[in-house]
Amino acid sequence: MKTKSPVSRSGRFTGGPAADVAQFTESISFDWRLWRHDIQGSIAHATMLQKIGVLKRNELSAITKGLDAIGKEIAAGKFKWKPELEDVHMNIEAELTKRVPAGAKLHTGRSRNDQVALDMRLWLRDEITFLLGEIAGLQRALVSLGEKNADVLIPGYTHMQRAQPVYLAHHLLAYVEMLERDCERLWDCHSRVNVCPLGSGAIAGSTLPLKRELVAKLLNFVDANGKVQLTQNSMDAVSDRDFMVEFAAAAALLAVHISRLAEDVILWVSAEFNYIKIADAYTTGSSLMPQKKNPDIAELARGKTGRVVGNLMSLLTLLKGLPMTYNRDLQEDKERLFDTADTVRASTRLMAAMLQNTKINRTACAAAASDPALLATDLADYLVRKGMAFRPAHHVVGAVVALAEKTGKPLNQLTLAELQTIGKTFGRDALGVFNLKTAMAKRNLTGAPGTKEVANQLARWREQLS
Ligand code: ARG
Repeated sequence: MKTKSPVSRSGRFTGGPAADVAQFTESISFDWRLWRHDIQGSIAHATMLQKIGVLKRNELSAITKGLDAIGKEIAAGKFKWKPELEDVHMNIEAELTKRVPAGAKLHTGRSRNDQVALDMRLWLRDEITFLLGEIAGLQRALVSLGEKNADVLIPGYTHMQRAQPVYLAHHLLAYVEMLERDCERLWDCHSRVNVCPLGSGAIAGSTLPLKRELVAKLLNFVDANGKVQLTQNSMDAVSDRDFMVEFAAAAALLAVHISRLAEDVILWVSAEFNYIKIADAYTTGSSLMPQKKNPDIAELARGKTGRVVGNLMSLLTLLKGLPMTYNRDLQEDKERLFDTADTVRASTRLMAAMLQNTKINRTACAAAASDPALLATDLADYLVRKGMAFRPAHHVVGAVVALAEKTGKPLNQLTLAELQTIGKTFGRDALGVFNLKTAMAKRNLTGAPGTKEVANQLARWREQLS
């Protein structure tokens, strides 16, 4: 069975494509969501066409009004998308032309190849802005949780083994730093997204005197200094999807960071750690075990990282063998990009909401942080201050730890006499290193989890994120 012939086939073809061909090639089922940007681009293009005399004033006004009306119908869910018209571009243009005769002039000097490149750039530009807002929200949630529990200490871990004490806030701020670099990467990517490809035509520009700068200005393709940003090679412009790969890569790293945070949350909420409690509304239950309260938001944020990383691989693979210039393969970029943007945005927002509804179990944190073994390194530093080289000091403290294990005593319960059986350098003040409060006050290097330093970092982030 053949289908109705879309505009792209009129003239050259004897009829529409076979039904399964139409179904295989359509993109309207997913690219409809570009409608807002498609209309925005068309209005800018039409405005320029009027300036160069292709459209009369009344034609431009009819086109603009027609597109606005279509936009309103789409927004209200009243527009009828037609799969036989392939994609969002043809659907909107065909409907416009049905209503406004001048619609037939809208595609002057334009191809769907530069049109789709434009739409994707406009769409992604907005998407990056939204995402940056969500990331700032997650950063704020982390800072708030740190501030509310500014005095809470927990063990820091390496190899998932207790290592040294840190303020909980320090641990949370580590994620704030990662997220900040994610923002920088996204913002950097934004500068290359923010370049106007319209006027590149199908591959080779146009013989008509189009005003590319004007269209770019209307669509706000300008850099921080107000300089108009235009693609400089028509072939590159219609086949370039680097900007999507960059976004997908930055988003994949963001997803990985969120996944690591999720993993910490999942550990901390377990009975074994018991450092945090997530409010009921942000957890789920088990269909079988009545006692369960599961951290599903964190688990899904961790799990969804897989598809975000996969989308990056899909996009890279999609591009790797493509000859110049536009190839229909490129239609496959959309679902991958949409999925990445939707997924990281939702994960970022939900993780922030979950953290805003998370309480710290101070008792469990204090119990874990009071493990004196966490300060074994401080004892070695004590010996260094007394003049011993670090390597022998490390060895001596190792022997002290072994003795504590053998005698079944916590490190800070050993007597001075016991310490001195291992090292004569130990003095009366040696056991003082196990005072957690003074131990934390001493960690005052830039970036260290010292009392003052963490307070400064919290204040810096609070200000930066306000
Ligand atoms: N739906 C197409 C895409 O997403 C639009 C461009 C079609 N261009 C073409 N020459 N068939 O790539």
